[in-house]
Amino acid sequence: MTDFTLRLAARPPLPDASALPTYRHAVAQPSDVKQQLNRLDDQEETTAVDNAHRVLRMLAISGSLRSASSNSAVVQALTPLAAGMADVSVYRGLGELPPFNPDHDGEHPPEPVLEFRSSLQSCDALVISSPEYAHGVPGVLKNALDWIVGSGELIDKPVALINVSPHATHAQASLKETLTVMSARVVPQASINISLAGRRLDADAIISDTELSAALQSAVALLTLAAYGILSAAAPAGAI
Ligand SMILES: Cc1cc2nc3c(=O)[nH]c(=O)nc-3n(C[C@H](O)[C@H](O)[C@H](O)COP(=O)(O)O)c2cc1C
Repeated sequence: MTDFTLRLAARPPLPDASALPTYRHAVAQPSDVKQQLNRLDDQEETTAVDNAHRVLRMLAISGSLRSASSNSAVVQALTPLAAGMADVSVYRGLGELPPFNPDHDGEHPPEPVLEFRSSLQSCDALVISSPEYAHGVPGVLKNALDWIVGSGELIDKPVALINVSPHATHAQASLKETLTVMSARVVPQASINISLAGRRLDADAIISDTELSAALQSAVALLTLAAYGILSAAAPAGAI
């Protein structure tokens, strides 16, 4: 029996994996996060995040390799938009990962795989913004996730899913299912649909758009709160 089989065998029963609903962004701002964190400081509560890193480390992944990708523009916009809440770094190695092969995942996995795993290990929360291809998750993104099923970097990791094409529902539902079976914590309140279809916005244009930047800041704020254990997975959208 492989490690992967053992991990799945030990996993608790799956939660309901029905299709990802359309989440409207909740109202949460950077000031909400600061207020909540100050409260934690006052109470000296133990948080899910190492106190040495008061600024949460977030990794953002675009599921598109396209040079003018709207999903990549979104993840680039997150770094400045998250200022004061989280340090967002963008993972750009999706196209360098070799096709997943369990035979190559022994003692010496390929270097790009080690780098990907290390990026995930050193983040407290993950944001994925992905297109849909033929009603599914882009192969490069699914391939990346396949490399970490056995190594387990996503276990209990809070994840926000961003969908820039609200008509595309299959890929988001599939991504949610895959992440859930890998024991990641998909945070519904931080998972949003924004409409970028046909708008050809780059990161700067997204940041300048009041509505888009507010939605993304809110998603980051709610993901931050979830990572600190302040936002319960069961809380309704908008509750902090
Ligand atoms: C090969 C291919 C297949 C696609 N399949 C779908 C699909 O099944 N459903 C959908 O809503 N959009 C589909 N699209 C549209 C993309 O999801 C959409 O253009 C997306 O915004 C592209 O993201 P990007 O700008 O980050 O590359 C497809 C695009 C391509 C290139």
